[in-house]
Amino acid sequence: MPQLGSALHSMADERLTVEIVDDDKQREKNEMKTADSTLFRRTISRFASGVTVITTSHGGTNQGMTASAVTALSLNPPMLVLCVNREAPTHEAISTADSFVVNVLSKSQEPLARQFSRPSDDKFAGVETYTSALGLPVITGCLANFECSVTARTTGGTHTIFIADVRAAAAYDERKPLLYYAGRFGRLVLAEDDLRDLNRLEKAESGWTSDWFRMA
Ligand SMILES: Cc1cc2nc3c(=O)[nH]c(=O)nc-3n(C[C@H](O)[C@H](O)[C@H](O)COP(=O)(O)O)c2cc1C
Repeated sequence: MPQLGSALHSMADERLTVEIVDDDKQREKNEMKTADSTLFRRTISRFASGVTVITTSHGGTNQGMTASAVTALSLNPPMLVLCVNREAPTHEAISTADSFVVNVLSKSQEPLARQFSRPSDDKFAGVETYTSALGLPVITGCLANFECSVTARTTGGTHTIFIADVRAAAAYDERKPLLYYAGRFGRLVLAEDDLRDLNRLEKAESGWTSDWFRMA
Protein backbone atom coordinates (compact mmCIF):
# COMPACT_ATOMS: atom_id res chain seq x y z
CA MET A 1 0.00 0.00 0.00
CA PRO A 2 2.44 2.72 -1.13
CA GLN A 3 0.06 5.70 -0.64
CA LEU A 4 -0.71 4.70 2.89
CA GLY A 5 2.99 4.24 3.64
CA SER A 6 3.98 7.67 2.37
CA ALA A 7 1.18 9.34 4.34
CA LEU A 8 2.38 7.57 7.44
CA HIS A 9 5.92 8.72 6.94
CA SER A 10 5.02 12.32 6.26
CA MET A 11 3.02 12.45 9.50
CA ALA A 12 5.85 10.76 11.39
CA ASP A 13 8.44 13.12 9.85
CA GLU A 14 6.48 16.15 11.09
CA ARG A 15 6.84 14.77 14.58
CA LEU A 16 10.59 14.31 14.14
CA THR A 17 11.37 17.77 12.73
CA VAL A 18 12.36 19.09 16.15
CA GLU A 19 14.96 16.33 16.41
CA ILE A 20 16.68 17.23 13.12
CA VAL A 21 18.29 20.34 14.50
CA ASP A 22 21.71 21.05 13.00
CA ASP A 23 20.78 22.01 9.41
CA ASP A 24 17.68 23.82 10.57
CA LYS A 25 19.58 25.78 13.21
CA GLN A 26 22.15 26.91 10.63
CA ARG A 27 19.42 27.92 8.16
CA GLU A 28 17.40 29.76 10.82
CA LYS A 29 20.38 31.91 11.78
CA ASN A 30 20.28 33.51 8.30
CA GLU A 31 16.50 33.70 8.03
CA MET A 32 15.54 36.86 10.03
CA LYS A 33 15.28 39.87 7.68
CA THR A 34 14.50 43.53 8.38
CA ALA A 35 10.69 43.69 8.60
CA ASP A 36 8.67 45.80 6.18
CA SER A 37 4.90 45.58 5.80
CA THR A 38 5.07 42.83 3.13
CA LEU A 39 7.34 40.61 5.21
CA PHE A 40 5.33 41.34 8.34
CA ARG A 41 2.01 40.46 6.66
CA ARG A 42 3.44 37.18 5.35
CA THR A 43 5.02 36.31 8.66
CA ILE A 44 2.20 37.27 11.03
CA SER A 45 -0.16 35.20 8.85
CA ARG A 46 1.61 32.13 10.30
CA PHE A 47 0.13 32.96 13.67
CA ALA A 48 -3.06 30.87 13.54
CA SER A 49 -6.04 32.50 15.19
CA GLY A 50 -9.71 32.12 15.82
CA VAL A 51 -12.12 34.29 13.85
CA THR A 52 -14.66 36.68 15.34
CA VAL A 53 -17.32 39.04 14.09
CA ILE A 54 -17.47 42.24 16.15
CA THR A 55 -20.98 43.66 16.31
CA THR A 56 -22.23 46.93 17.70
CA SER A 57 -25.08 49.36 17.27
CA HIS A 58 -25.43 53.10 17.26
CA GLY A 59 -28.25 55.39 16.21
CA GLY A 60 -30.45 52.34 15.71
CA THR A 61 -28.11 50.93 13.06
CA ASN A 62 -26.24 47.65 13.47
CA GLN A 63 -22.60 47.49 12.37
CA GLY A 64 -20.22 44.56 12.23
CA MET A 65 -16.85 43.41 10.96
CA THR A 66 -14.70 40.30 10.89
CA ALA A 67 -11.75 40.55 13.28
CA SER A 68 -8.97 38.27 14.46
CA ALA A 69 -7.04 40.86 16.48
CA VAL A 70 -8.86 40.00 19.70
CA THR A 71 -7.16 38.70 22.81
CA ALA A 72 -7.74 38.20 26.51
CA LEU A 73 -6.19 40.91 28.67
CA SER A 74 -7.12 40.21 32.29
CA LEU A 75 -9.06 37.47 34.08
CA ASN A 76 -9.94 39.44 37.19
CA PRO A 77 -11.54 41.71 36.22
CA PRO A 78 -12.44 40.00 32.92
CA MET A 79 -11.06 42.21 30.14
CA LEU A 80 -10.11 41.86 26.50
CA VAL A 81 -8.40 43.85 23.77
CA LEU A 82 -9.63 44.50 20.23
CA CYS A 83 -7.63 46.19 17.45
CA VAL A 84 -9.59 47.93 14.70
CA ASN A 85 -8.45 49.85 11.62
CA ARG A 86 -9.51 53.48 12.00
CA GLU A 87 -10.68 53.54 8.36
CA ALA A 88 -13.28 50.80 8.91
CA PRO A 89 -16.82 52.20 9.35
CA THR A 90 -17.23 49.77 12.25
CA HIS A 91 -14.46 51.68 14.04
CA GLU A 92 -16.66 54.79 14.13
CA ALA A 93 -19.60 52.74 15.38
CA ILE A 94 -17.60 51.12 18.22
CA SER A 95 -16.10 54.49 19.19
CA THR A 96 -19.56 56.05 19.40
CA ALA A 97 -21.33 53.15 21.12
CA ASP A 98 -18.39 52.53 23.49
CA SER A 99 -19.50 48.91 23.55
CA PHE A 100 -19.36 45.87 21.29
CA VAL A 101 -19.98 42.14 21.14
CA VAL A 102 -17.25 39.64 20.22
CA ASN A 103 -18.91 36.74 18.38
CA VAL A 104 -16.42 33.85 18.15
CA LEU A 105 -17.27 31.98 14.96
CA SER A 106 -17.85 28.25 14.82
CA LYS A 107 -16.61 26.13 11.91
CA SER A 108 -19.90 26.31 10.03
CA GLN A 109 -19.84 30.13 10.05
CA GLU A 110 -17.13 30.71 7.44
CA PRO A 111 -19.71 32.44 5.17
CA LEU A 112 -20.30 34.98 7.99
CA ALA A 113 -16.55 35.64 8.25
CA ARG A 114 -16.54 36.44 4.53
CA GLN A 115 -19.77 38.47 4.65
CA PHE A 116 -18.49 40.68 7.48
CA SER A 117 -15.04 41.22 5.94
CA ARG A 118 -16.39 43.16 2.95
CA PRO A 119 -17.81 46.69 3.10
CA SER A 120 -21.58 46.53 2.61
CA ASP A 121 -24.70 48.52 3.45
CA ASP A 122 -26.45 45.34 4.54
CA LYS A 123 -23.90 43.26 6.40
CA PHE A 124 -26.57 41.61 8.56
CA ALA A 125 -28.59 40.21 5.64
CA GLY A 126 -29.67 36.67 6.55
CA VAL A 127 -27.85 36.79 9.90
CA GLU A 128 -29.79 35.63 12.96
CA THR A 129 -29.22 37.80 16.05
CA TYR A 130 -30.75 38.56 19.42
CA THR A 131 -30.37 41.76 21.45
CA SER A 132 -28.01 41.84 24.46
CA ALA A 133 -28.61 43.63 27.77
CA LEU A 134 -26.64 46.61 26.41
CA GLY A 135 -28.87 46.67 23.31
CA LEU A 136 -26.26 45.18 20.96
CA PRO A 137 -26.78 42.53 18.27
CA VAL A 138 -25.48 39.08 19.29
CA ILE A 139 -25.01 36.51 16.49
CA THR A 140 -26.50 33.08 17.19
CA GLY A 141 -24.78 29.74 16.43
CA CYS A 142 -21.35 30.98 17.60
CA LEU A 143 -18.75 29.16 19.66
CA ALA A 144 -18.86 32.00 22.22
CA ASN A 145 -20.17 35.55 22.66
CA PHE A 146 -18.73 38.33 24.85
CA GLU A 147 -20.57 41.57 25.58
CA CYS A 148 -18.01 44.32 26.24
CA SER A 149 -17.84 47.94 27.42
CA VAL A 150 -14.89 50.05 26.28
CA THR A 151 -12.88 51.38 29.24
CA ALA A 152 -9.83 52.80 27.43
CA ARG A 153 -8.37 53.16 23.98
CA THR A 154 -5.01 53.93 22.48
CA THR A 155 -3.53 54.22 19.01
CA GLY A 156 -1.04 51.87 17.30
CA GLY A 157 -0.15 52.64 13.68
CA THR A 158 -3.32 52.51 11.56
CA HIS A 159 -5.38 50.90 14.34
CA THR A 160 -7.14 51.77 17.57
CA ILE A 161 -6.63 49.35 20.45
CA PHE A 162 -9.88 49.14 22.38
CA ILE A 163 -9.51 47.91 25.97
CA ALA A 164 -12.81 46.63 27.28
CA ASP A 165 -14.49 45.10 30.31
CA VAL A 166 -16.31 41.85 29.57
CA ARG A 167 -19.79 42.35 30.99
CA ALA A 168 -21.40 39.06 29.94
CA ALA A 169 -20.20 35.89 28.21
CA ALA A 170 -21.46 32.53 26.94
CA ALA A 171 -19.60 29.49 25.55
CA TYR A 172 -21.09 26.56 23.63
CA ASP A 173 -18.80 23.57 24.17
CA GLU A 174 -20.40 21.27 21.62
CA ARG A 175 -19.45 23.60 18.73
CA LYS A 176 -16.07 23.61 16.99
CA PRO A 177 -13.99 26.71 16.07
CA LEU A 178 -13.32 28.35 12.71
CA LEU A 179 -9.62 29.18 12.32
CA TYR A 180 -7.61 31.55 10.12
CA TYR A 181 -4.07 30.72 9.00
CA ALA A 182 -1.88 31.97 6.14
CA GLY A 183 -4.82 33.82 4.58
CA ARG A 184 -7.13 30.79 4.65
CA PHE A 185 -9.94 29.56 6.80
CA GLY A 186 -9.49 26.19 8.46
CA ARG A 187 -10.64 23.72 11.06
CA LEU A 188 -9.05 22.63 14.31
CA VAL A 189 -7.55 19.15 14.65
CA LEU A 190 -6.65 18.53 18.28
CA ALA A 191 -3.29 16.83 18.89
CA GLU A 192 -4.93 13.74 20.34
CA ASP A 193 -7.09 13.42 17.18
CA ASP A 194 -3.92 13.57 15.12
CA LEU A 195 -2.30 10.89 17.26
CA ARG A 196 -5.38 8.70 16.99
CA ASP A 197 -5.26 9.00 13.18
CA LEU A 198 -1.57 8.09 13.21
CA ASN A 199 -2.22 5.02 15.36
CA ARG A 200 -5.01 3.92 13.04
CA LEU A 201 -2.72 4.45 10.07
CA GLU A 202 0.00 2.31 11.64
CA LYS A 203 -2.45 -0.47 12.44
CA ALA A 204 -3.98 -0.30 8.96
CA GLU A 205 -0.56 -0.51 7.34
CA SER A 206 0.35 -3.63 9.27
CA GLY A 207 -3.03 -5.14 8.37
CA TRP A 208 -4.64 -4.93 11.83
CA THR A 209 -7.60 -2.82 10.87
CA SER A 210 -9.03 -0.82 8.00
CA ASP A 211 -10.64 1.82 10.27
CA TRP A 212 -8.48 4.57 8.87
CA PHE A 213 -9.89 4.05 5.38
CA ARG A 214 -13.41 4.36 6.68
CA MET A 215 -12.49 7.63 8.41
CA ALA A 216 -10.81 9.19 5.38
C1 LIG B 1 -9.98 36.70 9.00
C2 LIG B 1 -10.03 38.21 9.02
C3 LIG B 1 -9.61 38.88 10.16
C4 LIG B 1 -9.66 40.29 10.21
N1 LIG B 1 -9.26 40.91 11.35
C5 LIG B 1 -9.33 42.26 11.44
C6 LIG B 1 -8.98 42.91 12.66
O1 LIG B 1 -8.63 42.27 13.65
N2 LIG B 1 -9.06 44.27 12.69
C7 LIG B 1 -9.44 45.01 11.60
O2 LIG B 1 -9.48 46.24 11.70
N3 LIG B 1 -9.81 44.40 10.43
C8 LIG B 1 -9.78 43.05 10.34
N4 LIG B 1 -10.17 42.42 9.17
C9 LIG B 1 -10.62 43.24 8.03
C10 LIG B 1 -12.07 43.72 8.20
O3 LIG B 1 -12.96 42.62 8.44
C11 LIG B 1 -12.58 44.45 6.95
O4 LIG B 1 -11.76 45.58 6.75
C12 LIG B 1 -14.03 44.88 7.00
O5 LIG B 1 -14.44 45.36 5.74
C13 LIG B 1 -14.32 45.96 8.00
O6 LIG B 1 -15.71 46.20 8.00
P1 LIG B 1 -16.32 47.67 7.73
O7 LIG B 1 -15.57 48.18 6.51
O8 LIG B 1 -17.76 47.52 7.46
O9 LIG B 1 -16.08 48.43 8.99
C14 LIG B 1 -10.13 41.03 9.09
C15 LIG B 1 -10.55 40.34 7.95
C16 LIG B 1 -10.51 38.95 7.91
C17 LIG B 1 -10.99 38.22 6.68
